Amino acid sequence: MKKKCVLPNKPGYTGIGAGVWNIGPGIDPFGGPTRPAIPFLDRLPILAEAGITFYEAHDSEIPFSQAEEAKARAEACGLKCGMYTPSFFADPIFKDGAMTSDDPAIRKLAIENAKRAVDAALLLGAPTVVFWNGREGFDFVLAKNGQEAFRKLIDGFNEVAEYTDSRGAGSVRLAIEPKPNEPRANMYLATVGEVLYLISRLDPKYRHLFGVNPETAHSRIAGLDYIWDSELCLEAGKLFHIHLNSQDGQRYDQDLPFGYTEPLKDLALLVVLQDSAYEGIIAFDVKAPRTDEPKDIADILTVSLQNLVWLWEKALNVDRTILRKLREERRNTAIGGYLGKCLYGS
Ligand code: GLC
Ligand code: MN
Repeated sequence: MKKKCVLPNKPGYTGIGAGVWNIGPGIDPFGGPTRPAIPFLDRLPILAEAGITFYEAHDSEIPFSQAEEAKARAEACGLKCGMYTPSFFADPIFKDGAMTSDDPAIRKLAIENAKRAVDAALLLGAPTVVFWNGREGFDFVLAKNGQEAFRKLIDGFNEVAEYTDSRGAGSVRLAIEPKPNEPRANMYLATVGEVLYLISRLDPKYRHLFGVNPETAHSRIAGLDYIWDSELCLEAGKLFHIHLNSQDGQRYDQDLPFGYTEPLKDLALLVVLQDSAYEGIIAFDVKAPRTDEPKDIADILTVSLQNLVWLWEKALNVDRTILRKLREERRNTAIGGYLGKCLYGS
């Protein structure tokens, strides 16, 4: 078995995570698969072989009924479950929202799925359940009452929290992942700021259970800076998990390898994570492109891992005294130059 990639000097979790969906069959909205779909449990050894430590999965990929089997398969290849997530987007029943659906029966189903995801996370030993509520939003204005929809989100998350609490959690936390659009034209919980606002509106007795899972590409799609988004989570004490990848401009969600489009910003992000002593899991949310051959399907992971490990080491070598001095002297351009030196210099 290949050696696992670990991040030296990182407190807490030092291994890296990746989703089983990262190595899919190459489907996009314009065309079907370009590779055979590897059964989800068979993807675990591929992740492990690439150097990943923590796998992540949706309930639609590894359902609760397969949790025991998944646990055994993961253990056999030295993987642990880092995150589990209910899919509120794939099933056509959620086409116009899950927790925010106008149909009480669909809202009930969404909450039930969320509770089962908490159970699965407890069984699998995953520290975090992520909620990316992909179909909550609107394509047509006035198709929904946005204020009511937001209050439905508050009620829904409170109910999930009550259940999590009753299950004696403490071992499991809930992290909400923002995204501004795609699949909906406009999505509720579009940004880190909105997610933090939602958390501030939740029942005070459950707020501690909730945090954020920011994704670098999602911030970029919103036209926002992912370093500031991550810092905002940190300032709020709410950075529970993080999804790293790359995005080439404000367009459809690309899920490119980490470190590929904005290495200097990625370096700066790692400096921020190091200086805040972030203990949570660092995970990739990338997508093997449809042009990659089946034999090369893990390239998306190995390239991301290699970039992350190199950038992490470079971030450790960034001289904080020099940074502080340049800040004090208000030499903003020179700070950019110093980061450039750390990245490109020999
Ligand atoms: C979907 C989203 C991804 C999110 C994941 C977990 O795959 O595309 O960004 O992290 O669901 O909820
Ligand atoms: Mn993600």
